[in-house]
Amino acid sequence: MNIIDKIISNFINNKSLYIGEKVTISEHMIQTAMIAEKSKSSNNLICSCLLHDYGHFILEDPDKLVRKKIDGKHEDIGYEYLKKFFKKEVVEPIKYHVLAKRYLAKEKKYFDSLSEASKISLKLQGGALNKKESKEFEKKDFFKNSIKLRKFDEVAKRTGIKMKSIIEYKDLLNFQLL
Ligand SMILES: [Fe+2]
Repeated sequence: MNIIDKIISNFINNKSLYIGEKVTISEHMIQTAMIAEKSKSSNNLICSCLLHDYGHFILEDPDKLVRKKIDGKHEDIGYEYLKKFFKKEVVEPIKYHVLAKRYLAKEKKYFDSLSEASKISLKLQGGALNKKESKEFEKKDFFKNSIKLRKFDEVAKRTGIKMKSIIEYKDLLNFQLL
């Protein structure tokens, strides 16, 4: 099976809920991509959004990890796998979307806006970045898109909205291949 068909089949078959939320991981990623499209993002960023939590599909049991208070590093797992197939512009924001959360969490207003599940995972991910770490992150090529991805990610947890199907993203995925 080629990578695009494999991704599509994972989206369709994986019914796990996004940790602490009422939407599945598949729905959550599709919603993130839909928000990116609405914000007139580049195709690269839309594709990053669509695949940003793909690492959760690869991890054996994400819920169990949370219960055991272990960070599964889903951003690295997704990145390491997807970089074999997709452009750098697509996979780098995936790698950095957790760092982006840690960057944004320096602001109290942002921290307070996080869901309870997200506050718990923030702690496991190492908490908010300090000044020096933040400066380092700002220098990265994909800093801006990583922050954008994270902001779309945050609000992509709604139920009862009209959803696109993963099939509708097949061409977009194909165009972002290496
Ligand atoms: Fe996410």
